[in-house]
Amino acid sequence: MKHIDIKELFQHSENYVNSDQTVCGWVRTWRDSKSIAFIELNDGTCLKNLQLVFDKEEMPAESFKDALVVGAALQVVGKFIPSERNGFEMAVKNVTVLGGCPQDYPLQKKHHTLEFLRTIPHLRPRTKYFEAVFAVRDKLSFAIHKYFQEHGYKYVHTPIITGSDCEGAGEMFRATTMPWKTDFKTEQEYYAEDFFGKRANLTVSGQLEGEMAATGLGKIYTFGPTFRAEHSNTTRHAAEFWQIEPEVCFADIHDIIEIAEDFIKYIIKYVVDNCPEELEYFNERIEKGLLDKLNAVISSDFAKITYTEAVKVLKKSGKEFKFPVEWGSDLQTEHERYLTEEYYKKPVFVVDYPADIKAFYMKQNPDGKTVAATDLLVPGIGEIIGCSEREADTVKLEKAMKVRNMPLESYREYLDLRKYGTVPHSGFGLGLERILMYITGVQNIRDTLLFPRTVGSL
Ligand code: 4AD
Ligand code: MG
Repeated sequence: MKHIDIKELFQHSENYVNSDQTVCGWVRTWRDSKSIAFIELNDGTCLKNLQLVFDKEEMPAESFKDALVVGAALQVVGKFIPSERNGFEMAVKNVTVLGGCPQDYPLQKKHHTLEFLRTIPHLRPRTKYFEAVFAVRDKLSFAIHKYFQEHGYKYVHTPIITGSDCEGAGEMFRATTMPWKTDFKTEQEYYAEDFFGKRANLTVSGQLEGEMAATGLGKIYTFGPTFRAEHSNTTRHAAEFWQIEPEVCFADIHDIIEIAEDFIKYIIKYVVDNCPEELEYFNERIEKGLLDKLNAVISSDFAKITYTEAVKVLKKSGKEFKFPVEWGSDLQTEHERYLTEEYYKKPVFVVDYPADIKAFYMKQNPDGKTVAATDLLVPGIGEIIGCSEREADTVKLEKAMKVRNMPLESYREYLDLRKYGTVPHSGFGLGLERILMYITGVQNIRDTLLFPRTVGSL
């Protein structure tokens, strides 16, 4: 269908001003008066609507009355002209209704609550809020690829169906073709009949396969969906989320922390530079001071503190936490938020966590108690990155696995990496939705995904 994007009209208006153009889009709002009618048309290419002006002296009201309908899809021919109020608008010559829209269209009002919009995920991309969220998600994803491509990383595609459990937490979805009815006596018997002849899961992380790719390709990154069956019904947990996982050979924990900080600043700057309209909107509507916050993040150093120090800070804070802090216990969201929101007021890397609360693959520090791991915490959210140097010593790695009762034979290939030309290497995982929340100020992870999957809701 021959037409021009509304974004293109506004962006290169000098090429189109005072010429006839064809645009397509949906009616956001309309107004009708005695001699003139207006429609705000949006085609999804930019946040800004194109104002259509119908002069009743030129066009009989009868010829466009079916277009004055919220939600209707239109094709419009008209002259693109300067306008005092809107910069530019279109003096309509002809309008075709491509798709009508009956009165039960749920988006009749200008403002709807996010809770209500969550009940109509198939229609919410037609609102300004979600148009802005998905525009930023798009540019953010591009920036992530751009960073790694410019820095010599190879994009690899790790499997989604896997036989292993990367994080060792066991919170995995099972992938199966088995019928509902079964009369097997043991789990082994049951899985033997299944598609792969063994238990298969949706991956929680591409890291283990990422390490295998990196120990041949040097520097890699993954960018794909990962799945967690944890029953965390919070504003920051989704059962299906997108994760970015770089893995870098010949890099220790200090190197990877430097990379992570450089990467986060780069992708935020890219969004600030390329989504000014969207961020302006979020700055006004969602989080006052958002732009100042992002600019401060780009231009200042992130804080760094050891877990052990962080526990001391939390104990001395005088705060009444719901979960008391003790050395050896995992930091809860309330602790993370105190450190990053009140103590540092900026992103902070917490390093050297107790080995017992972290995954088996992390490099064991000489103190015998902690591992070379870090979480990056940011104000308003808490953890956005989980990061570590990997244990490169077979003996130490096997010991950590045995302590966790892991079946070594299932991790033979992973252990081979330490047997054949082992190297210091490190990596991290960034949750795309978490950084998107941080950049936009969106408060609920359900509003960053096209079709969010969370516990009890599909
Ligand atoms: O800290 P996590 O569990 O780390 C890993 O999976 C490592 N294998 C990463 C690596 O070193 N390659 O998860 C990494 C990040 C978290 O910091 C968080 O941003 C995000 O993934 N994440 C979630 N995001 C949304 N919903 C969930 N349920 C999430 N679980 C983790
Ligand atoms: Mg983590």
